[in-house]
Amino acid sequence: MIDTPRFGLGRLSRYRRLLGLDKELAERKRPDARVICVASGKGGTGKSIVATNVAVQRASIGERVLLVDFDAGLANAHLLLGLAPEHDLGHVLSGAVSASDALIEGPHGLRLLSGGVGRHTLVDPTRRELDRLFRALRPLESLFDLVVIDHGAGLGYATVAHLAATSTLLLVTNHEVTALSDSYALYKRAHMVNPHIRVGLVMNRVPREDAALAGWERFRSASERFLGHSPEFVGWVPTDEAVARSVEARVPVLLHAPDRPAAVALDGVARWGPIDHARSARAFFERARSALR
Ligand SMILES: Nc1ncnc2c1ncn2[C@@H]1O[C@H](COP(=O)(O)OP(=O)(O)O)[C@@H](O)[C@H]1O
Ligand SMILES: [Mg+2]
Repeated sequence: MIDTPRFGLGRLSRYRRLLGLDKELAERKRPDARVICVASGKGGTGKSIVATNVAVQRASIGERVLLVDFDAGLANAHLLLGLAPEHDLGHVLSGAVSASDALIEGPHGLRLLSGGVGRHTLVDPTRRELDRLFRALRPLESLFDLVVIDHGAGLGYATVAHLAATSTLLLVTNHEVTALSDSYALYKRAHMVNPHIRVGLVMNRVPREDAALAGWERFRSASERFLGHSPEFVGWVPTDEAVARSVEARVPVLLHAPDRPAAVALDGVARWGPIDHARSARAFFERARSALR
């Protein structure tokens, strides 16, 4: 029999409980996840390609990663990962399942919370619904090292609340004027609701380096001139048919064709330093709830 000093430990843990020390220690040991948002002004710029590959790369180096597909109504992250989730954000919102029960496991153990396709409530949620959803999602933050949120195009309530709450944003655009101008509008709005936000710009689906650098220079000079600041340039991802083939195969290009130029570039995006520090003083979903008010 093991001789346990039961009384001593019992008394100690009672004191600690009284003083709230256990809770404090638990919180210190397991800080809330870092959170990054992936957004753009325009649809089809490659947000979901970037978000899924960043999530996979981070999971492959041993991080506990959660990918949340917040492009509700047009969710496709599950397709890009080859998954068939039973539950999605709509089920969490309706209270049918808890947020942790809605997760499905993907490559390298990453977890996906799917957005659900064509769910009316989530296509255009009210602030009250979003408040309930964010409250339900809050417990997930203590279960992961990194949460990656894939957004829909544009500036709905959910996206703006997340921009106000996040410490770090990956802005995905391409070099065309329309995409640049929509991304600039999103960047401007993000800074308005969150002056301390750290923004990295990814120039995706660009034919050549000179086009990527010209697009970046256009964005940088306009935002310096009109706003007095600009994002950081994370990198550019070439147009690569390996991406379309990986979408067909439902395997992220980083796993499907890791040596192809787009995969190498996306690996570089996933290594962007600020992702390691994407934390703020308060929990992300608490900040997002405050932003709704
Ligand atoms: N670097 C790239 N090279 C070639 N095709 C790409 C690239 N990035 C994205 N695509 C194509 O564009 C489509 C839309 O990308 P997606 O990430 O779903 O856009 P978004 O999430 O911004 O709406 C993808 O299905 C893919 O076929
Ligand atoms: Mg998408």
